[in-house]
Amino acid sequence: MSNQKSELLVLLDNHKLQQLINEKSILIEVFESLDSTQDYLKTFLGDKKIRLCLTEHQTKGRGRFDREWHAPFGKNVYLSLLYSFNQNISKLGGLSLMIGLSLCKTLNTLYTLPHPILMKWPNDLMCDHKKIAGILVEVKAEAHSISHANIGIGVNVNMLDDDKKITSQQWTSLQKLTGQYHDRNNLVAELINHLITDLNIFSQQGFKPFLKEWNNYDLLFNKSITVKMGEYEFNGIAKGLNEQGHLLLKLNGIDEIKTFSSGDATIVKKNN
Ligand code: BTN
Repeated sequence: MSNQKSELLVLLDNHKLQQLINEKSILIEVFESLDSTQDYLKTFLGDKKIRLCLTEHQTKGRGRFDREWHAPFGKNVYLSLLYSFNQNISKLGGLSLMIGLSLCKTLNTLYTLPHPILMKWPNDLMCDHKKIAGILVEVKAEAHSISHANIGIGVNVNMLDDDKKITSQQWTSLQKLTGQYHDRNNLVAELINHLITDLNIFSQQGFKPFLKEWNNYDLLFNKSITVKMGEYEFNGIAKGLNEQGHLLLKLNGIDEIKTFSSGDATIVKKNN
């Protein structure tokens, strides 16, 4: 954290990151510009080594459903992390939820915010109903019960309105929320330290140990929502998640709970 000047620029610093990140075996690379950290690390998917890639700018940053992820120079966190599991890919259900939750806990602990950051299933981080971070997880199966994850994380840190005028979705950033400039090196190090701890727990026990914590950050719980799955839409009341991380939806008009392993959820606005 530093003073209020928006023109401040503290660059990502590989040396500082090496010092602050507890897991010393991680191979860290920092770039000035890439098409996408996710695409860069894709070429190494299958390596056993944990690799962390960060960039100051992305020319083809992408989100879920191949949506564009806006990535202006030096403003935000754009990172990807390669992590391997001694698990069959079928055991990785809930991985992206656990990663979102880990990031959500880190941000709420590190910063004093006017509103808590909450999880919008499956993996949007929202503050006052505006998006502050997103997760994109791509997995690859290998023989003998080994699988690999390419974990992409984007966090809006020092982005202000001038950096992103055109927007399809309401967004916010840590600087917008706190009025202060934030050093991304500290944030990245804290985030990776927590994430590695949580990934170790997940690789032993799956999503189950995280379910209780999810309930503390569940933006959708008991809200009237619409879930889109491909061309289909379902309306009902969100009732949390099951142990696999699937969304439970009490369908409107009928006494039935439907579960969703994937999809896109929106809160139905009240007309009053
Ligand atoms: C989403 O909310 O749709 C997910 C956004 C993920 C964006 C990050 S930024 C770093 C990494 N590289 C990418 O191209 N995408 C992810």
